Amino acid sequence: MADIEKNIKKIPIASDHAGFDLKQILIPYLEEKGFDVVDMGCYSNESVDYPDIIHPLAKEINEGNYEFGIIICGTGNGVSMVANKYPNVRCALCWKEEIASLAKQHNNANIIALAARFTPVDIAKKIIDSYLSSSFEGDRHLRRINKIPVH
Ligand code: RB5
Repeated sequence: MADIEKNIKKIPIASDHAGFDLKQILIPYLEEKGFDVVDMGCYSNESVDYPDIIHPLAKEINEGNYEFGIIICGTGNGVSMVANKYPNVRCALCWKEEIASLAKQHNNANIIALAARFTPVDIAKKIIDSYLSSSFEGDRHLRRINKIPVH
């Protein structure tokens, strides 16, 4: 089992209305795997503005209160844009398993973003599994991610 899967106990998850249905499917999926899922909204299909929902989760990751989070909107783009405003957040928009593995291995992503309107549920589950079973490779990748923040 990869380090991250052993260390992560609590996983915050958040979505806008476009990602709500997928979020509701992923929460029990993660709970069945033994994770304590923190649902940070939204809580219905009613239209919301994704920044309102995503900033609180991104702040938690930025402050180191959780190791890893999942955010979802229709395309995954809006939520990624919000999350990546935070200096300690590395959010990767993941649309297939291999992207999710590499997001951990090479980018040490601490949030993955999913595109609910373009990602079948079975693929979304595989994306999460791939991320959780991967480990950051460090070395040259550490040097590179250390160059990401704007000072
Ligand atoms: C909502 O209609 C949609 O714009 C939102 O979920 C997201 O895709 C934005 O990037």
